[in-house]
Amino acid sequence: MWYGDGAASLTVGDEDVIAEFKESFSISCDFVDHYRGSDHKYDYVWEERWARDAGYSKIIPDAINGLLEKSGVAIKDIAKVVYPCFFKAEHKRIAKKLGAMPEQVMGNLHEECGETGAAHCLLMLTGALENAKPRDLIIMASFGQGCNAFLFEVTEKIKKLCPRNGLAGSLADKKSMDNYLKFLTFRGLIDPEMGIRAEAPVQTAMSALWRKRKMILGLVGGKCRTCDTPQFPKTEVCVNPECGAMHSQDEYEFADVPAKLNSFTADLLSVSMDPPHKYGMIQFEGGGRFMADFTDCDQDDLKVGLPMQMVFRKRVEDKVRGFTAYFWKAKPVPGALEALNKIRYDDRTAIITGAGGGLGRIYALELALRGCKVVVNDLGGARDGSGNSSTSAADKVVDEIKALGGEAVANYDNVATVEGGANIVKTALDTFGSIDIVINNAGILRDKSFVKLEPENWQAVLAVHLNGAYNVTKPAFEHMKAQGYGRIIMTTSGAGLYGNFGQVNYSSAKMGLVGMMNSLKLEGAKYNININTIAPLAASRLTEDIMPPDILAKMKPEFVAPLTLFLCSEECGQSGEVFNVGMGYINRVAVMTGSGVQIGDQDNLPTPEDIHKHWDQINNLENAREYNDLNAATIALLAPPQDEPVNDKQTDEASPQMVFDKMPEVFKPEAAAGVDIIFQYSISGAQGGDWIVTVKDQKCSVEAGQADKPTCTIKMEADNFVMMAKGKLNPMQAFSSGKLKIEGDVMKSQLLEKLFELK
Ligand code: NAI
Repeated sequence: MWYGDGAASLTVGDEDVIAEFKESFSISCDFVDHYRGSDHKYDYVWEERWARDAGYSKIIPDAINGLLEKSGVAIKDIAKVVYPCFFKAEHKRIAKKLGAMPEQVMGNLHEECGETGAAHCLLMLTGALENAKPRDLIIMASFGQGCNAFLFEVTEKIKKLCPRNGLAGSLADKKSMDNYLKFLTFRGLIDPEMGIRAEAPVQTAMSALWRKRKMILGLVGGKCRTCDTPQFPKTEVCVNPECGAMHSQDEYEFADVPAKLNSFTADLLSVSMDPPHKYGMIQFEGGGRFMADFTDCDQDDLKVGLPMQMVFRKRVEDKVRGFTAYFWKAKPVPGALEALNKIRYDDRTAIITGAGGGLGRIYALELALRGCKVVVNDLGGARDGSGNSSTSAADKVVDEIKALGGEAVANYDNVATVEGGANIVKTALDTFGSIDIVINNAGILRDKSFVKLEPENWQAVLAVHLNGAYNVTKPAFEHMKAQGYGRIIMTTSGAGLYGNFGQVNYSSAKMGLVGMMNSLKLEGAKYNININTIAPLAASRLTEDIMPPDILAKMKPEFVAPLTLFLCSEECGQSGEVFNVGMGYINRVAVMTGSGVQIGDQDNLPTPEDIHKHWDQINNLENAREYNDLNAATIALLAPPQDEPVNDKQTDEASPQMVFDKMPEVFKPEAAAGVDIIFQYSISGAQGGDWIVTVKDQKCSVEAGQADKPTCTIKMEADNFVMMAKGKLNPMQAFSSGKLKIEGDVMKSQLLEKLFELK
C-alpha cells in the first residue's frame, strides 16, 4: 500500500548547470529495514516502528546535521530540505529535529504517488527544483543502509530551463484506476490470457532496429523540399499526389508536433495488456498522418478531433528472448477531452428577458462566460412591474459581462408590448446579426386572493408573462425558422403546474406558457428549434418574503442556470419538456393520461350512473402515458385498450425478417393510388433491426437499413411486431398501450392497414 512506481533522471555535468553541487556528507551503516531476495517477487519489510525509530528518525538527521556542519551553512539558510520518509508524522518530526520550518521541507509525496523506493529522493528533488529560485540552497538526503546528504545551490540557469513535464506535470496527468485486475496485470503479478494472436513471433531484428533507429527511437519522418509536405515514414517518393518528387525529403521530427485524432477503433481481438486495444489515425499539425496505438486512455476518452500527444512507450515484450521493444504511441493531451466536451455557445446570440437581476442575470453571465453574445433585456421596474423603468439593472449586468471579457448589449424594452418584443429582437439582430436562443424570463408578481383580484392585476401579470413570451418569441422564431436553428426557454412555475393560493393570475399565465410550448414545439421541430420549459426555485426579489431566510440562502440561482444552459445548447436535442429545478434537484414534469375505461358503445350510450360506477377506474393513473401531441392522444381515444389484452407471450415461429419478406406480396397496389410514403421500422429485441418500406407509384419495396427522411418511424419489440403482423395484436391497442410507438406523421401510419393485407 505504501509503494508507488516512479523514476527521475537528472543530467549531471560541469557547465550550464541549474543547481551546483556544493558539499556532501555520508553515513554508512548495516541497517537493513527491508530487502527483496533475488528471484523473489515481493519486498520484505521488518517492523515499521523499529525502521522508523532506529532508522529514519536517527540516520537522516545525523547525516543532514553532518552536512550542515561540514559546509558551515545554517538550517535557516536552506530553501528546501528534501528527504524521504513515508511515515507522515515522522517526516514532520525529522524537520523539527533539524530545526527546519514546515515551508522549508519538501513534502514526502506520499499521498500523490506513494513511496517510489530508490528513486524517491531524486523525485522529490525534481519537485523542489521546479519551484526553486536562483541562489536557493537545497539539501537532498537519501535513505537506505545509511544516508547520503548533498548540498546544492540553484543557479541563474534555472530560469532558462526549457519546459518539461516534470513531477508536477506527471502528477497532473495521472489517471486513477479502480480495476484491481488491471493493476495486477500491469504490474506483472498475474498472467492474463492474451489470446492466440499473442503467439505471433515478435522477435526484433537488431539490424532493422539499427537501420531505422531514428524512425523508431526519435519518430523521425520526412518533409518534402519540393512541396513542404511532412510525412511518416520518410520514403524515397513524396506522398503528395500533386508532387511525387523523388529523393526530396529532409528529416522531420514528429515527436513534439501537436496532433489531433482523426479516427479510432477499439479492438477486442488484437493483443493488448489493456483491452480493448485502441488505435487509429492521428493528424499532425502542419501535415503528416500516423497510424498509432493509443495509451493512457479508455475507449470512452476517445473522440474525433481530440488533441493527442506522442509518448515513447513499451510496445511489445518478446518473452521468449527477454527483449522489450519500445515505440511511439499517442495519448490524449491531459484535460483535452474535458475541453472538447465543454458545452460552448461561441457564435451564438441569446436574448434573455428580465436579465437585470435574479435568475436572468445568472443566465446572462454564465452564457457569456461560455462564449455567447447576450442581449440583456430589463425594463428595471419594481417587483409588481410598477414604477418608472430604469436602465441601470440591464446596464449593470452588461458591465459585469464585459468585465469578464464577454460580449453583451443592454435593452430596456417592455416585453409586455408587441413593439417592445420587436425591439428586443431588433437589438439582437442589429448588434450581433443573429438570434439563436431566447430565454423568456421576465416576470412580475401581483398576488391577491381571487375575489380581490381586480382586472388590472389579472391583466398586468398575463401581459408580462404570457404576452411577453409571445411578443419576444414570435419575431425571434421567424428568424430561427429561416436559419434552421433555435433554442427557446419558457419559465413556468410550480404555482401554475400545481396551484398556489392567491396566485390565480400568475398560475394562469405560467400554465399558459406550457400550452404555448406544447404547440410551438411541433411548429419548431422541422427547423431544429427546440422549446423547453423550466419551473425554477431560487432566491430572488420574487421569493425573498415568501421563504424563510435559511432556505433562501440555499436557493442559489446558480443551481437553476446549468439546466437552463443545457436546454439552450446544441447538445440538447430534446424539445417540449417541463422541468422542476432548484437547489441541485431536477425532475421532469409531464401531463399524464390514465389508461381509462371504455363505457358504453354506439348503441348503448353511458349514463351518469355508469360514470359513478366506474369512477375509480376513470381516476386511476396506473399505466398512465404521455402523448406527444393531440393526434396521438386522439388516436388513443379512438381505440382504447381493452380489458383483456392479448397474451404477450404468444408468439409464432415467424420473425420480423419473414414479415418484411412477405410485405411486397401482401401489398395492395389498388389502395396505394397517389400514396408516396417511407415507413421506417425500428424493431427491437432478438431478431430485430431496421427496415425501410417505401410505397411510391403504387409499388412497394422493402430493404434493410435506415431511411434519410422517413415519413414516419414505427418502433416495436420483435414479438409484438410479429403478432401485429399476424393480426393477433390490434395496432390501435398496441399504440394506446405503448407497445407501438410512432414518430413523425402519426396520421400517415394509419395507412398501413389499408395498404397491406398482412394476416
Ligand atoms: P426577478 O424579479 O429577480 O427577475 C425578474 C426580472 O424581470 C426583473 O429584473 C424585472 O425588472 C424584469 N421584468 C419585469 N417585468 C418586465 C418587463 N415587462 N419587461 C422586461 N423586464 C421585466 O425574479 P426571478 O426570481 O429571477 O424570476 C425570473 C423568472 O422566474 C420569472 O418569470 C419568475 O416568474 C420565474 N420564477 C421564479 C421562481 C423563483 O423561485 N425565483 C419560481 C418560479 C418562477
